[in-house]
Formats: sequence, structure tokens, C-alpha cells
Amino acid sequence: MFERLQQKWKVNGWRLLLILVTFATGGSLCGYLGRLILNQLAIDQPVIRIILYVVLVTILWPFCVIIISIPTGQFLFFRSYLKKMGQRMTGKKEIDADKLIMNTKGNIAALPFRVAVFASGAGSNAAKIIEYFSGKPGIEVALIVSNKPEAGVLGIAQKEGIPTLLIEKEKFFRGNAYVNELQHAGIGFIVLAGFLWKVPSALVQAFSGRIVNIHPALLPNYGGKGMYGMHVHKAVIDAKEKESGITIHFVDEVYDHGAVIYQAICSITDTDTPDSLAQKIHQLEHAHYPRVIEEVIADLQKRS
Ligand code: GAR
Repeated sequence: MFERLQQKWKVNGWRLLLILVTFATGGSLCGYLGRLILNQLAIDQPVIRIILYVVLVTILWPFCVIIISIPTGQFLFFRSYLKKMGQRMTGKKEIDADKLIMNTKGNIAALPFRVAVFASGAGSNAAKIIEYFSGKPGIEVALIVSNKPEAGVLGIAQKEGIPTLLIEKEKFFRGNAYVNELQHAGIGFIVLAGFLWKVPSALVQAFSGRIVNIHPALLPNYGGKGMYGMHVHKAVIDAKEKESGITIHFVDEVYDHGAVIYQAICSITDTDTPDSLAQKIHQLEHAHYPRVIEEVIADLQKRS
């Protein structure tokens, strides 16, 4: 049961524990406050007491869990959880970005599924992903996003005629993280391919379970802040590891941390250098990343 919850909410065991503690404590607080208010009202008839208690608990519960979620550090989870509950209860649903695209006349049309690729560097992975999906009518690389004006990936996008979005630090980390822009562009899925900024909570929440990253090592080893590109390969070679590999994983609020989707391994010989290891890793990435992305999207579409 706990594993299913972890998968459903895309959280690790520790976060699941904090979420469950928040539910339990929020529920108890709400029950306590409900009884306190009832006693103040001094109503004697049992049936009315029960009805009033149920009403009070229903009203108080969201406030109680949201208050408790602040000290347990789960505010963002509960904010989005309550929002979804509210939408379900009122029958209102936000426009599902997966199934919509804005065409050039501003009309909304069904399919293909629109993917944004975020990259900060040369963009060899982005190029492979574009090439792979150019032959697949159901999925379109619709946007290339970069934080670096000089990134090679922008040149690739231009050559392929794919729109680009150059993002700014201030707006990404302290603004809306470009959530509105991505939603207006009908983006339903985000692929990080050598994107070196941490993904802000606002974006993780808006695209929950719809952001994947590739890391050039076998996580949980050689991951975290500062561990990217050649830094990773150098650390692996310095540690005299006998093998390395790639990890494709969902993105959560922590660097290189979300649930692992796929790993592939390569061996390291005594003569390998960070450069030669980087080449082996790139080969693995190019061979597997596009296919794994396709499988994750297919799975997402099956479940929606
Ligand atoms: C890739 O090897 C990717 O795994 C790595 O950056 C490289 C980008 O290459 N990503 C990270 O290190 C993220 N922590 P590319 O620009 O040629 O696709």
C-alpha cells in the first residue's frame, strides 16, 4: 500500500511519512476543534450534534492539514492536493495541457502530445530526441527551452524550425517558473537533457510526474548539486570505479532524486579518461533516452 502511495504521489519514503503524519495530525486537530466548538454551542440533541460535527469537521479539515503541513514541510504537496480535491468536488477541471495544442490561429486542436526539451549545453541528447520523434506523429518536440543564449541546443532548434524559449533566472526561480508560458504553449511533458538549473517547486508541482531528467551516472551515486557533465565523469574516474552508466528519472524538488525509471551500465577500463567515459555515456544516452521518454508518455496517456 505504501509503495502504491509513493508511486501515486511521486514521493520518496521519507516524504510519504511526513505526508501521512500531516494527515493524521491535521485530522486529530480538526476533530479536537470540532468538539471544542460543539461544546461551546451547548446543543443537547444527539442527531443535531452529529450532523453539526460532520459539517464542522468537513469545513475545518482543509485548514487544519494546511496549517500542520507548514511545520512538516509539506505545504506545497497539500496545497496542490486540496486544489485537486476542490476541482473534483466542484466538477471543475483545469484545461488538460496534454491533450491540447494551440495552432497558429489560436485555435485549440487535439494531439499530438507536445513536449518541451530543456537544455543548457551542446544539445546532442536534444538532437537525438528531436530526430526520434520527428518520425512519430503522436509526439512532437514543440519547444526548446534554454537558460544560455550561447547554448548549442538553440542552434539545433533553429535548424529544425522548433520554437525556442530563453529563460531568465529571476523569473524562473522567483516568478512563476514559466508555468503559464508552457501551459499556453500546450506543453504536456518536460524533458531535461543536460539542463543545469534546479527545477523550481512551482514547475515540479504544475508538471507533477511529467518531468524527466537524464543523469550521466548511476544514481544515487555521483548525483546532487555541482554533479553534472564532466564533473561527474572526473569524479567516477578519480574514484577508480569499474563501471558507470546513465539514470533516467522523474524530477522532484531535490537534485537528481526522483524515482528512477531506467538505468544502463557501461564498464570502465584502466585506460579510460573522463573524456572517453563521457563518450561511452553519451552513446548510452542517445541509444536509450528517446525510447524511454516515449514509453513514459505512452504510460501517462494510458492512465489519463
Ligand atoms: C549529458 O551527458 C547529460 O546526462 C548531462 O549533461 C550532458 C548534456 O549533453 N546532464 C547532467 O549532468 C545533469 N546533471 P548534451 O548537451 O550533449 O545532451
